[in-house]
Formats: sequence, C-alpha cells, structure tokens
Amino acid sequence: MLNIVLFGPPGAGKGTQAEKLQEKYGILHLSTGEVIRGEIGRGTELGKLAAEQMEGGKLASDELVLGIIAKYIEEHKSAPGVIFDGFPRTLPQAEAFDRMLDEAGTKVTVMLALEVPDEVVTERILTRGKTSGRADDQSIDTIRNRIEVYKKQTAVVADYYKKAGKFRSVDGVGTIDEIFGRLCAAIDALR
Ligand code: AP5
Repeated sequence: MLNIVLFGPPGAGKGTQAEKLQEKYGILHLSTGEVIRGEIGRGTELGKLAAEQMEGGKLASDELVLGIIAKYIEEHKSAPGVIFDGFPRTLPQAEAFDRMLDEAGTKVTVMLALEVPDEVVTERILTRGKTSGRADDQSIDTIRNRIEVYKKQTAVVADYYKKAGKFRSVDGVGTIDEIFGRLCAAIDALR
C-alpha cells in the first residue's frame, strides 16, 4: 500500500495536490477537514461537537478525529493506498495512527511536507474565501490563528516522521503543475 501523509500549513495546497495524486496513482484521498465539514453541514451530533471545538481556527479534538480515522481504515482495508490530507495533526494523533495502521497490517510510506511561507498561504486562503463559503476562511484573525495552531501543535508532527526516516520536504511555491511534478518525483524516488 502507498500511504501518503500530505502535510503543510493551511492553504499549502494539500487538497489541490491530493486530487491530482489520487488520479495519477489510483489511490484514495481522505481529508479530515472535508469529513468534518460534511458532518457540520449535515448538522450531525459529531458535526455540532466539531464546530464548537474548532471555533476561531482551533483543532478538533484528537478523540473526535481518531474516531473518523479508525472508521475509515476499517472500511478501506483493501485499498491500494490512501493520501491522508490534514492528518495526523498532533503527536498523539501520529502515535495512535501508527498503532491503527499496524493493527491493519500496513504503515505510512512517506510524509510529503509542502513548504509554503505564511504570506503566500494567507493570500491563497483569502482568495479562496471569496467563493468557498468556508467559515474558517472568512476572517483574517481566524486565518492567522490557524497558522499559529499549525506552528504550535502540528509542525512537531514533521519531527516524528523525520525520526522514522519518512519525511520528505517539497517546495510548495510555484504553479500547481510545478508542485505536482515535485511531489510525483518524491513518490517515484521511493519505488
Ligand atoms: P483542513 O480542511 O485540513 O484545512 P487546512 O489544513 O486549514 O488546509 P486548507 O484546506 O485551508 O488548505 P490546503 O492545504 O488543502 O490547500 P488547498 O489545496 O485548499 O482543516 C480545516 C479544519 O478542520 C482545521 O483547522 C481543524 O479545525 C479541523 N481539522 C482537520 N483535520 C484535523 C485533525 N487531523 N485534527 C484536528 N482538527 C482537524 O489550496 C488553498 C487555495 O489555494 C485554494 O483556493 C487553491 O485553489 C489555491 N492553490 C493551491 N495551490 C496553489 C498554487 N500552487 N498557486 C496558487 N494557488 C493555489
């Protein structure tokens, strides 16, 4: 299985690139943010809880997110691979994820980390916010807070994969196709 953790700050291009990688490599794409937004949109109990937790750009709880991941792994045991977009986002999530994959008889192949400066991601999110309708794209304070949360709680997850020898840094500035080419080169170098 080709299990890719696609990593990077808010607005780094994870979702955009995951769609293209999914098509090229014939693997699945799981965005925890998309799953949570779906739950919020449908007004489920999980969605209501997540919306409270995420107010102002904060993370949803590890417990809530790990529940989503456990269900997904169980339902997709025979998949040829998965791009995990936006997960894991904390150290406890990364540790629990390894245990879950181990039980399912698989493991993370690689973390691909998109490196994009704050000012570029802020601009991208502000541009998307005009049409996306995403609650967390609307205010500059929430966008700044998401970037701060990434630095304080999420960036450390890269160190976890560095220690495991699975970390690959990818320049996330340039055209969508240029960045896609870099990601593909990093994946193909693993084979
Ligand atoms: P999530 O949905 O994961 O959002 P995010 O990490 O903030 O990332 P974005 O979706 O904003 O950006 P992206 O990197 O996917 O970039 P995109 O391709 O869209 O999470 C949302 C929230 O859910 C979190 O804040 C948290 O509360 C909660 N959550 C999710 N997972 C969680 C977890 N594991 N634990 C706890 N909480 C969790 O691109 C951005 C824009 O730029 C687009 O408009 C795109 O068209 C454009 N663009 C992309 N590439 C380029 C380029 N090369 N040049 C110009 N424009 C570009």
